[in-house]
Amino acid sequence: MESYTILSKAHMLFALLFVISMLIKVILIFKNNEAFDKYRGKTKIAEMVVTILFLALGIILMVQKGGGFHMLFWIKLGIVAAGIPLGIIGAKKHSKALVTLSFLCFFGAYGLAEVAKKKAVVQEVVVEEPSQLGTELYKVNCVACHGEDGKKGLGGASDLSASVLSEEEAKNVITNGRGGMAPYGGQMKEEEITALATYLQSLKAK
Ligand code: HEC
Repeated sequence: MESYTILSKAHMLFALLFVISMLIKVILIFKNNEAFDKYRGKTKIAEMVVTILFLALGIILMVQKGGGFHMLFWIKLGIVAAGIPLGIIGAKKHSKALVTLSFLCFFGAYGLAEVAKKKAVVQEVVVEEPSQLGTELYKVNCVACHGEDGKKGLGGASDLSASVLSEEEAKNVITNGRGGMAPYGGQMKEEEITALATYLQSLKAK
């Protein structure tokens, strides 16, 4: 497995641990404050470690990807950023409402991350020349994983300069997705996918 994939799996695992721990805290705070404080006391260090690793991995992944983020990604980032202070203040004040709200933030962010994995990032482009459609679509939608020259290979993305797929086969992968690549079929027009497949042929020649 390639490092981006491993880091991204670890990031999701820490996120899941965090969400489970938040859920336990919600249950305990509704039971009584003592049980809640006891759990917090016992898990303090573990939770700090998980939180720091989770955030650090998130930042590393963001830097490695370097752009092409889905709208869902920014929403996810926003609710995680809101959930942290809510959780801290909620715990200090023993506020059931704030602790619950904080849990819902993290639960929602985790859900969004799972959805985003299966949803392709699609950014529309405006071109003067129809012949530029493939090039421009590639720049905004594919470069984050495949790179300008097709060789970046983020998260196990295939080296497109070494691809042996025909235009028709490439169209098929773009439309239906494959492995770590989400399907673009529902979100791009047929002519856009065709233009992309044509453009990919030019990457091979280089
Ligand atoms: C989130 C990262 C990501 C994005 C964005 C992405 N891809 Fe991919 N792509 C991959 C991965 C991962 C694979 C390998 C899939 C597998 O394991 O089967 C792949 C494989 C492919 C292949 C198969 C190549 C071969 O020779 O087998 C084609 C064609 C392709 N991508 C085209 C595109 C195009 C065109 C876009 C932009 C519309 C795009 N990809 C956007 C990750 C991505």
